[in-house]
Parts: sequence; structure tokens; C-alpha cells
Amino acid sequence: MNEVIETIKTRRSIRRFKPDQIKDEELQAIIDAAIHAPSGHNEQPWHFTVIQNKDLIDHFSVVTKKAMAKSEVPWIAAMGKNEKLHLFYNAPTLIVVSGRKDSYSPIIDCSAATQNMLLAAHSIGLGACWIGLINFMFSIEEEVKKLSLPDGYEPYFAVALGYPDLDKPLRPIERKRDVINYLK
Ligand SMILES: Cc1cc2nc3c(=O)[nH]c(=O)nc-3n(C[C@H](O)[C@H](O)[C@H](O)COP(=O)(O)O)c2cc1C
Repeated sequence: MNEVIETIKTRRSIRRFKPDQIKDEELQAIIDAAIHAPSGHNEQPWHFTVIQNKDLIDHFSVVTKKAMAKSEVPWIAAMGKNEKLHLFYNAPTLIVVSGRKDSYSPIIDCSAATQNMLLAAHSIGLGACWIGLINFMFSIEEEVKKLSLPDGYEPYFAVALGYPDLDKPLRPIERKRDVINYLK
């Protein structure tokens, strides 16, 4: 099968990581894939905050879970209260994806860039997981300040990144097939 399609079809969210840090060239390849995503009006309105400081990653997990624990959505509150859960699965690298607020379609563009990162990571043997729940932290101003974002940008989600700690690759999840109609 074509390599790109093979990568797309075998990618899985990885939630177990080895503690070893990824190589700088791997990180650069992943960011390079991100910035090659399409963007509305070609505005390329994304920004990536690469965090490789374990104390800060752990801190963001703790404060996000604290906010999640107050959620009215039962499964989110339960995750927030789960003491064993590390929100970023102890990944050695966390990339926060932010967008320029006044651009045409920042969240969509940042989503495209994020998917590129997940695919690039998988294609070079790394594991990655899209972390949307970090948005519980983004309503806490003092925590967002710690990201040192450029003016006019707001954070949307994060990617946990590292070497997968798995004996064998995860099998692809069953996909819903009845999602197409054809007009010919
Ligand atoms: C917008 C978005 C937000 C997500 N947020 C989280 C998250 O906070 N934590 C997590 O473990 N997985 C998160 N995921 C991963 C999904 O749970 C995962 O993609 C889905 O279960 C399908 O599994 P797969 O990625 O292995 O194919 C998120 C995925 C997307 C697209």
C-alpha cells in the first residue's frame, strides 16, 4: 500500500511512553510536518510551544486535572479525580498548539497542523496523542502565561510525544463505514 495511506491507517493514539527524550532532529521533523499543513487564506496562524521540562509537564497535568474534577460532565470529572492518571501519560515532550486569534480559521488550521504532527510522529516510529482536555487549563490565566505565547495567540490543544512503550503496535480501531453518500 502507498506509504502515506499506510501511515494514516496504522496510526493510533499512544498513551504509554518511555522516559527517554526524543531526538532534536525527530522533533524538528515533526514541527516541519506541522507547518506544512494547509491553512485558510494561507495565513499559517499557528504557534507551537515545545515543553521538555518534566516538572512543568507534571504541573500542567495536575492543574488541568484539578479544573476537570469540577466539570459537570461525569466522565471528565472522574478523569480529573483519578489520581493514577497523568493527563499527558508521562510523555517526555508536550507540544501546545496555539493560533492567532484574528486569523481566518485558526482552530481548523491548528487542527490540520496537529494531525500532521501525529502522522509524522508515527511515520518515524514515535508515539503521539492529541490532548484536547488540556483546554481545562486554558481558562486559568496564570497557567497560560507560563506558555509565553506571542501577543494575539491563544492555546487550543496539545500533543503528547515520545517513544511508545508497547510490546507490539496497537491494532487500528474499528471505523464506522456508513458515513458516505455518493451523488453521481
Ligand atoms: C480533538 C481531539 C481531542 C482529543 N483529546 C484527547 C485527550 O484529551 N486525551 C486522550 O487521551 N486522547 C484524546 N484524543 C484522542 C482520541 O481519544 C482518539 O483519537 C480516538 O479515541 C481514536 O483513537 P486513535 O487515535 O487511536 O485512532 C483526542 C482526539 C481529538 C481528535
